[in-house]
This record gives sequence, C-alpha cells and structure tokens, in this order.
Amino acid sequence: MNSFKETTLTELNLNPFNKIGKEWMLITAGSEEDFNTMTASWGGLGVLWRKDVAYTVIRPCRYTYEFTEKNDYFSLCFFSEEYRNALTLCGRTSGRDCDKIKEAGLTPVFIDGVPCFEEASLVLICKKLYSQPMDEKFVHDNAVSECYGEGEDYHTLYVGEIVKALTK
Ligand SMILES: Cc1cc2nc3c(=O)[nH]c(=O)nc-3n(C[C@H](O)[C@H](O)[C@H](O)COP(=O)(O)O)c2cc1C
Repeated sequence: MNSFKETTLTELNLNPFNKIGKEWMLITAGSEEDFNTMTASWGGLGVLWRKDVAYTVIRPCRYTYEFTEKNDYFSLCFFSEEYRNALTLCGRTSGRDCDKIKEAGLTPVFIDGVPCFEEASLVLICKKLYSQPMDEKFVHDNAVSECYGEGEDYHTLYVGEIVKALTK
C-alpha cells in the first residue's frame, strides 16, 4: 500500500530546472529484494522518439549504476524541502557502505515492482529506452576539465520513458 495517486504528465505543473537542478531527485533501481538509490541534480524531462521521457546521467562508480544497468526500470523521486538532509545523505554516502535509506529515514515502496519512496511528493516510473556511456566527444570545451578531473569515469546516459507519474 502507498499513498500515491496517478496523474498525467500534462497535469504536472513543474519547472525541471528547479525540480531537478535545485531541488534534486533520487534515482532508484532494483528489485524488492535488492535495490539502491542516489541523489542526482543532473538530468532532464522532455520528448524523444514520440515518447515522454526523462534522462539521467550516472557515473559507473556509483553503486546505483549496477542497479540501473541490471534492471529495465528506474524511478525518479522528488521531495519537499524538509527532505533536503535525506537527499544530501543519499548523495554523499554509498549504499555499498551503509544502509543510507534507513539512515535517511526513507520508506521504500514498490510500484509495479519498481522501488521508490513513500515520502516523495512526485514519483516518475521510467522504463529504460536507451543507455549510452559518454565518451570523449564533448563539444563543451571545459566539460572534461570542469566536471571530471583526471578520471575518465564519464557518466552513462539513460533515457527512460515515463510510464507512470504519481503524486499525493
Ligand atoms: C546534489 C547532488 C547531486 C548529484 N548528482 C549526481 C548525478 O547527477 N549523477 C551522478 O552520477 N552522481 C550524482 N551525485 C553523486 C551521487 O549521488 C553520490 O556519489 C552517491 O553517494 C552515490 O551513491 P551510491 O554509490 O549508493 O549509488 C550527486 C550528489 C549530490 C549531493
């Protein structure tokens, strides 16, 4: 059981620059038996291949990457400001090292088998359509020096079709 109700994307009144870039989100993937989450502030919402999509970028060193690679779905969860500390925790610690979901005080729920969190104010369930490791073809001159430093742990891009949107 959860307290969400389904909505349509056209009914959502959100600004992705605030919602993702400023408020942040949790990307969560896995099964009821094993899943992980991490905070993200890069990504987008839009339309591609005639579908409503979300895109996210995840560095392969993240534990969450293992779950987005292995599973067909991931969720994007958005929260009100009172969960800022929880999102900070999920962006600074790894699920490899601790039970950060418990420490953050978040309650996992599964929607059509996809992990997300009861405390979220908005959940987007996404079906992976495309994934692509980024390579050296950066057109933005400073992306590598500004965002990656020495390592070549470039993000993997995931484009997911938004198959369900849930609010409270
Ligand atoms: C505000 C914020 C935004 C972040 N955005 C991203 C992102 O878009 N992509 C990414 O790979 N990591 C991002 N991170 C870093 C991961 O959330 C962080 O490395 C996390 O500890 C990974 O957890 P995991 O190892 O359990 O997957 C962000 C961290 C913070 C605090």
